[in-house]
Amino acid sequence: MPVTCIASAKSCGVTTAALALTMASARPSLLAECDPAGGTIRAGLLQGQVSAGYGLYHLAAADRVGPVELANAFASHLWPLDGQAGHRRALFGLTDPAQAAALSRTWPALSDVLHVMAESADYDVFVDAGRLALEAGRLHPTLTPAPLLYKADLVLLAVRGTEQALTLTRHLIRPLRTELEDNGTGAGALGLLLIEDGPFRSHQVAEALEAPVLAVLPWDPDTAAYLTAGGKVPRGFARSPLLRYARTATEQFEVIAARRQVHQHDPASQAHTQLAGILDRLAHRGGARG
Ligand SMILES: Nc1ncnc2c1ncn2[C@@H]1O[C@H](COP(=O)(O)OP(=O)(O)O)[C@@H](O)[C@H]1O
Ligand SMILES: [Mg+2]
Repeated sequence: MPVTCIASAKSCGVTTAALALTMASARPSLLAECDPAGGTIRAGLLQGQVSAGYGLYHLAAADRVGPVELANAFASHLWPLDGQAGHRRALFGLTDPAQAAALSRTWPALSDVLHVMAESADYDVFVDAGRLALEAGRLHPTLTPAPLLYKADLVLLAVRGTEQALTLTRHLIRPLRTELEDNGTGAGALGLLLIEDGPFRSHQVAEALEAPVLAVLPWDPDTAAYLTAGGKVPRGFARSPLLRYARTATEQFEVIAARRQVHQHDPASQAHTQLAGILDRLAHRGGARG
C-alpha cells in the first residue's frame, strides 16, 4: 500500500482529509500526524481524551537509541481510531510547535517505519504534513517534515477551488516538483487533492496549477465538523459524502502509486526485516490500546 503525504499552502483541510481517508480506507490504515506546527486531532476529534504521554514527540528520544527502539516506541504509541477493532490507528502529533526541532533528525527513520507498515504490514498510510514552508526554494528543515515528503509514494497538495487557495498554492508547485525530483521519488509523486469549496472545478484547478488532480473530496460541513471537533458521531457518518469520496480516493491512490512502481526501499534489507518483525505484531496485537 502507498505512503501518502498530504500538505497544503495554507490551512485547506489537510487534517480533515487525512482523517477521512484513514477512516474510509478498505484496508488497515494508519494516520501519522506530522504537522510541525502541532497536532489538532487530540484536542479536536478526540476531545482531549488522550494525554500528551502518547504521540510523535516520544519517538524522538527512542530514535536516539536506535531503529529497533524507534519501531517499538512507534508500535506502542499508536492509538486506535475504531475502538477495539484496531484496523485504523493514529500517531498523534506534537502538543507544542517548539517540539518540532527535536523531530528533525527522526523524520528519516520514521519514514522507514511508515514504509515498512505500508509494504510489509499492508497498511494504507497517510501523513498529515501540515502547511508547507519554503526557505530559499527548499522545504524548510524544521518547519516541514521534509524527509517524509521526499520518501512518500504520493505527495498531495490539498487545495480548495477558490482564488485564494489557487493563488497561494501556485507558488509551491514548481519548488516542490524540483525538490521531489532532486531529493524525492520524482516529480511524478506530486498531485492535487481538491476540496470542493469555491467556484473552480477539477479541470480548472489542474489547468491553473499545472498539476493533476488525483482525487476530489466534497464540501461536507457536518462530517468535517465532527472530524475537526469530535462529539457525537453524526448519523450516517460512514455513508456521508466525505467518507464515500474518501474511500474512492484511497482506491485511486493505490492504483496511481502502483503504476509509478516506486520501490525506494529494499524490502530485503536487514533493517527492514527486523522492523517488519516488530511491526508485524501490530496486525495481531494492536498498539497503545489495541
Ligand atoms: N471537506 C470539507 N467540508 C467542509 N468543511 C471542511 C472540509 N475540510 C475541512 N473543513 C473545515 O475546514 C477547517 C480547516 O480544516 P483542517 O482539516 O483543520 O485544515 P488544515 O489541517 O489544513 O489546517 C475546519 O473547520 C474543517 O472542519
Ligand atoms: Mg491540520
